Amino acid sequence: MSLFSIDRKKCKRDGRCAKVCPAQIIVLPDPEAFPTIPENREEFCINCGHCAAVCPHGALTLKTMPIAECPDIRYELLPEADQIRQLLMARRSIRFYKDRIVAHGLLEDLIDTARHAPTASNQQQVQWVVFENPAEVNRLASMVIDWTRSMLPLIPDELMAKKMENKIAAWDDGKDQILRGAPHLIVVHSQTDLSFAETNCVIALTYLELYAYAKGLGTCWAGYLTTAAGFHEPLKQALGLPQGHKCFGAVMLGYPQYKYKRIPVRNAAAVTWRS
Ligand SMILES: Cc1cc2nc3c(=O)[nH]c(=O)nc-3n(C[C@H](O)[C@H](O)[C@H](O)COP(=O)(O)O)c2cc1C
Repeated sequence: MSLFSIDRKKCKRDGRCAKVCPAQIIVLPDPEAFPTIPENREEFCINCGHCAAVCPHGALTLKTMPIAECPDIRYELLPEADQIRQLLMARRSIRFYKDRIVAHGLLEDLIDTARHAPTASNQQQVQWVVFENPAEVNRLASMVIDWTRSMLPLIPDELMAKKMENKIAAWDDGKDQILRGAPHLIVVHSQTDLSFAETNCVIALTYLELYAYAKGLGTCWAGYLTTAAGFHEPLKQALGLPQGHKCFGAVMLGYPQYKYKRIPVRNAAAVTWRS
């Protein structure tokens, strides 16, 4: 069974579908022929949809991807490069949040956008856990503190140990320096034995973070929680990831309390140019 069907009235046999196919499995044996995929090559399809997406005539429909489910790109909605650059440079890690819940629909929108992030060989095996309840987010932070307390005597680096001591002291003083009192937490996870599992998750979470900023939300990567999630059993249970999965990142999320006015200075890029 062919992976796609060709509308012979629409197909102009321009070969674009064959050219862009990353697996190079589509053939047009001669200029008069319509595109086909030889049966012995079907297994190499990564279902990326490029063949259907590039066809200017809408002539190709993948079995897995009805053309009606592939919306036209609205080029008029794409931002200018300087708008994107400003977005990328203006985003900040947010550590103070308003006492305001993010609507479930908006959380869904964030995830729905982030699922368009690239994945190695189009695996699309990134998964999410969204903690919507602020009390539960606070409970997760308390678990990270529990773990930090237990690890404190084992931290070899003096400065790091002092840093951790300060976080514990702050917690005991009613200040959350782990998840920063954020109302929500979004955890990204994947099967550990997939190639590029971590990279896929990190890219997806970065997509989510940038889109969240564009939607007026604030985020901050939850590094302490991510580390603790690899070791602390009660936290692992609270995250409830499937067997064989690992938390590869998490972001706190909510409405930012403060608006930033300036873009802080960053190190010059360390680049080796070769020509
Ligand atoms: C992988 C990763 C883990 C991080 N973990 C934490 C964290 O646990 N707590 C925190 O307050 N900030 C955390 N951050 C935020 C960084 O401190 C922040 O990105 C950096 O200071 C630069 O600030 P900016 O994001 O506003 O540009 C983390 C960032 C990354 C990329």
